Amino acid sequence: MNDLTDFMLCGNLSVSDNGHLNFAGQDTAALASEYGTPLYLMDEERIRERCRTYTSAVRTAFSDKGRVLYASKAASFKRIYEIMREEGMGIDVVSCGEIRTAEKANFPLSNAYFHSNNKTDADIEYAIERGIGYFVVDNEEELFAIDRIAKEKGIKQAVLLRITPGIDPHTYEEVATGKVDSKFGSAIETGQAFLITKTALSLENLELVGFHCHVGSQVFDSSVYIATVDVMVKFVYDVFLKFGFITKKLDLGGGYGVRYIKEDPVIDIKESILEVGEHVKKCISQYGIEMPEICFEPGRSIVADAGLTLYTAGTVKNIPTYKTYVSVDGGMADNPRYILYGSQYTLLNALKLNEAHDMPCSVVGRCCESGDIIAENVKMPESTCRGDIIACLTTGAYHYSMASNYNRIPRPPVVMLNGGESYLAVRRETFDDVTSLDI
Ligand code: LLP
Repeated sequence: MNDLTDFMLCGNLSVSDNGHLNFAGQDTAALASEYGTPLYLMDEERIRERCRTYTSAVRTAFSDKGRVLYASKAASFKRIYEIMREEGMGIDVVSCGEIRTAEKANFPLSNAYFHSNNKTDADIEYAIERGIGYFVVDNEEELFAIDRIAKEKGIKQAVLLRITPGIDPHTYEEVATGKVDSKFGSAIETGQAFLITKTALSLENLELVGFHCHVGSQVFDSSVYIATVDVMVKFVYDVFLKFGFITKKLDLGGGYGVRYIKEDPVIDIKESILEVGEHVKKCISQYGIEMPEICFEPGRSIVADAGLTLYTAGTVKNIPTYKTYVSVDGGMADNPRYILYGSQYTLLNALKLNEAHDMPCSVVGRCCESGDIIAENVKMPESTCRGDIIACLTTGAYHYSMASNYNRIPRPPVVMLNGGESYLAVRRETFDDVTSLDI
């Protein structure tokens, strides 16, 4: 690795004169010594910039008929919901824990969409009591449950139906959800999508407002969304013909990809949304139907490159004729994405960017499991040693939110960076936090 500029995956990364990695204009080495490691850093300006990219693209494409919902499973903690509120975003939530967190941030829950393929009665009651705006209903059984509980609470609940359009997004299997054989949604192909629509229209305590779909995650190709629009707008038309129902909201889901490694493409979100927007308008006018509000539901692309993780290197072990292992003080407990999906990352020695990164190695965690790897076959400077600060880039999405206490390791804090300042959004867990639920 000689030209480090290739590895500056996002504009918020740079190299300072002393060879340190700067993130959001701040020296990561100084942040590591102030807050300790492992440490999640989040660039607040970048999060806001991404929100604005989406909101302005959607405004240009659909004027007042567009809406952006942040898929908060990507990173869920109080401060994020405050930022989303300030940026005028809606949110997608998938559990009562996320609903409660959003509520603590005074996020207006009338602007929240409650997903999940298996909402319990307790979930439904909680969400209705909190005044959730919309349920995104996965299946018919859930419709009956929401109708029953809405009746008990004396309200009429707005719902969207999750439809499976049968689109293969060409991404990794674990995040592909739009195919017919999926635990999510009701498929058009099997006729269940029409059945659930008919049922929704017949239930007195529900107000059907529209349809939702989400075909997958880490998608780089606009053609996936174009194909989804073809299927979904035809469905909206067919539903109008069959039932006379006018769709008010059509949610196209999330999924835009981000760069984890330099080989990942750069996607121009604005351009893609404008292209999708043109196609939506074309299809709508072809069928001669009313333009619904079009929603996008990005998670990863709002927060991923606004985050990075800092670790401290420990043991550096060379196994002659095999390889070198650089161990860090985190691992699969703060980043389960390698062990789950084999995800690749860009790693840098945040203290030694003025040295060539040319020593092949695997960077591994400290959990008691051989699959506990952050990245295989990456390169670090030859001089990498105990005490160095190792940065793992693009960790703002699905890291803190998927972190665990495996091996009873306390979770790292989340520190926000903004305008040269830093502040804690989530404090570091202590051993007492970890043991606090044990009776
Ligand atoms: N909407 C729905 C209904 C979803 O299921 C998801 C993600 C999103 C929106 C947001 O997708 P995004 O823009 O973030 O791609 N843990 C995996 C990702 C799981 C995605 C689940 N659903 C990972 O770390 O790659």
